[in-house]
Amino acid sequence: MRRRGTGFKGLSVLSSLAFRGAIVPCKNAVRMGSDDVFGNDLRRKCVLCPDRNGGFMFNSVREALDVTGDALGSAAWLHFRRFLAHPLRVRSVFPASEDLSRLIAAQIHRREDEFIVELGAGTGAVTRALLSRGIPACQLVVVEIDPEMADYLRASFPEVRVIAGDAFEVAKAVPATIVGKVSTVICGIPVAALGLERQHRLIANVRLLMSKGARLLVFGYLPHPPLPAHQLGLRRTGSALTLRNFPPGFVWIYELAK
Ligand SMILES: C[S@@+](CC[C@H](N)C(=O)[O-])C[C@H]1O[C@@H](n2cnc3c(N)ncnc32)[C@H](O)[C@@H]1O
Repeated sequence: MRRRGTGFKGLSVLSSLAFRGAIVPCKNAVRMGSDDVFGNDLRRKCVLCPDRNGGFMFNSVREALDVTGDALGSAAWLHFRRFLAHPLRVRSVFPASEDLSRLIAAQIHRREDEFIVELGAGTGAVTRALLSRGIPACQLVVVEIDPEMADYLRASFPEVRVIAGDAFEVAKAVPATIVGKVSTVICGIPVAALGLERQHRLIANVRLLMSKGARLLVFGYLPHPPLPAHQLGLRRTGSALTLRNFPPGFVWIYELAK
């Protein structure tokens, strides 16, 4: 079974190996030292292993990283790969840490029969914290534009409704039964960098989902509010910060002004 990585484990293991010289490019191949951190998973999956000195041989750095990333089963690795493919869309190099995810989940406002919608769920760091906090999977809907990440979410959380789609069309994408019955929308997509027109479009969609008194939680890594609340018909009612994320993570709490 694929192991789900948490936090930075995959990337930090790879970078520490690179620093310690355990990954060594050879002529036409890459040799990886016999460091035991990868355990049996790597031995099983290794393409040309072991070499004479007890190391592992790969045809390229890319293959070495793919196999080790896979062996680590790392959500962080998938996140990093999708960041490399779409840096402006993903924006962060790492998924949210457990601390940041818990901090977001702690700001949830939920009435019994209402729903939670998460926009830009990535590899599910926040989704996991929401479930741990006791949100029933059947009342959670997550939206992710990246098809590979959406597949990962479906495999990781089979009971959660995962929509592979665009948050800017969320009101059309979710089942009609939840429109107007969402008590918290969590936004992980990088909204601060959008122009006002795009922000308007996103908030117009989010607004359709929200029930009376609902919250919009926006998290990100800039120390100033990501949305111009007044211009978008929102009211900022609070914020929270954790230093236990790289970079430090901020959660901004908004409600509808009218
Ligand atoms: C900063 S990452 C956050 C990922 C995850 N929530 C976490 O904290 O680890 C932003 C995520 O939003 C997704 N995203 C960006 N634009 C989107 C859009 N228009 N609709 C849905 N998802 C989007 C990206 O693919 C990426 O997974």
